[in-house]
Amino acid sequence: MSENPSITIIGLGYVGLPLAVHLAKYFKVTGFDINGDRVTELLNGYDKTGEISSPELRNSTLHLTSNVDDLIGHNVHIITVPTPVDKNNTPDLTPVRKASETIGKIIQPGNIVVYESTVYPGVTEDICGPLLEKYSKLKCGKDFFLGYSPERINPGDREHTVDAITKVVAGQNLAVSEMLANIYGAMNGGKIFVAKNIKTAEAAKVIENAQRDINIAFVNEIAIIFQKLGISVYDVLEAAGTKWNFLNFQPGLVGGHCIGVDPYYLAHCATSFGHDPKVILSGRSTNESMSNAVSTAIHQTLKAKNPDISKPRTLILGLTFKEDVPDLRNTKVTDIISELESLGHIVDVHDPMADPEEAEEFFQINLKHSLETDEAYDCIIGAVPHEGYLNLTNISIEQLVKPSGLIADMKGMWRKREFDERYSYWCL
Ligand SMILES: NC(=O)c1ccc[n+]([C@@H]2O[C@H](COP(=O)([O-])OP(=O)(O)OC[C@H]3O[C@@H](n4cnc5c(N)ncnc54)[C@H](O)[C@@H]3O)[C@@H](O)[C@H]2O)c1
Repeated sequence: MSENPSITIIGLGYVGLPLAVHLAKYFKVTGFDINGDRVTELLNGYDKTGEISSPELRNSTLHLTSNVDDLIGHNVHIITVPTPVDKNNTPDLTPVRKASETIGKIIQPGNIVVYESTVYPGVTEDICGPLLEKYSKLKCGKDFFLGYSPERINPGDREHTVDAITKVVAGQNLAVSEMLANIYGAMNGGKIFVAKNIKTAEAAKVIENAQRDINIAFVNEIAIIFQKLGISVYDVLEAAGTKWNFLNFQPGLVGGHCIGVDPYYLAHCATSFGHDPKVILSGRSTNESMSNAVSTAIHQTLKAKNPDISKPRTLILGLTFKEDVPDLRNTKVTDIISELESLGHIVDVHDPMADPEEAEEFFQINLKHSLETDEAYDCIIGAVPHEGYLNLTNISIEQLVKPSGLIADMKGMWRKREFDERYSYWCL
């Protein structure tokens, strides 16, 4: 193993790009992506994920490429490709397999291959290792070595950035673990936890997100219960949150590439070992049912005051999977849109953070460019608490809604306000 690592990062998305930029401050780094458009856009100094600023990108020594030959000669390869699920919620390891094939074809004796993609315990050693062997004709653990280091960053989180948080690392042997501790530690001030082995590190990551999912599911369940009781879950959480050990989770849709996906990886692994993961899947099912619960409640509240309304015009504020990010992956707002449309609503969508082309391409949604409207809506729904929506004045919100219309506030972002009494207000 080389004393002086030169590194490739395979997959330059939300995870790979920040990692590549930060590691490039200390090491020779080549960032590779199969998506040539992504590489071109990065070479032009633009990161559409919003994680890395243009000056930071332009000033980085990172070498960006979509040419596989540029990966040859490096000795540490870090794989940060997506790990989605298919339509049956089964792990889709195609990108991880493909990336392993790519690296398998170029690795040389002494190289280390580190996986950062979120997987279930066993994927690195039982699936990726053999693939690397197949394509390299080298022996895993003898000629080349495996490592795993889960990524914990959140899209849009400017505090818990990759250079600021503790990194869990695990290597196939002690020397690999030490090498990874040195590489990642150079970037994050030495905040390294060396996990006992690769499977432990894989398991640690997947339970971090499964735990969040289950906790959110609990809060979503009590939100539904308290709706029936006519009390606000937010008021209840505020009161309960004054206890020292009460956990702070908020109700809402669970979308995105991680929390709503990773528990299925753990569940798949459990099932393949003959265990029925009831708690994990029950949390998933509760969170998956939230879009229906929310759209039904909004529709019924609107109808209660406007019983004759048949084709309500509804404006949804926010399409991304969470606030203040452009990330549309696995957004559950699209489920709300479909459910409202099936109830007869004519839905417009506004989101200043989302890329209009992506909204059109992925969901056939033509985003409204501004909040100006010739005709007020029967219902507006605050779906994603982007800062711009938090800062809307009462007047600008009320101007969007017809008198007797409904202001629905899915995330409770306006719940401390007093709207004119002509409007109905709904929040979980
Ligand atoms: N997004 C997050 O905040 C986050 C946080 C923690 C962990 N993770 C995990 O990190 C992994 C990557 O997630 P992401 O959000 O960065 O995904 P992403 O979709 O933003 O980026 C992945 C990139 O990999 C590229 N890619 C796909 N297949 C490739 C291949 N075979 N070779 C080279 N490049 C390839 C894609 O073109 C894309 O640019 C996933 O396993 C995810 O679960 C993500």
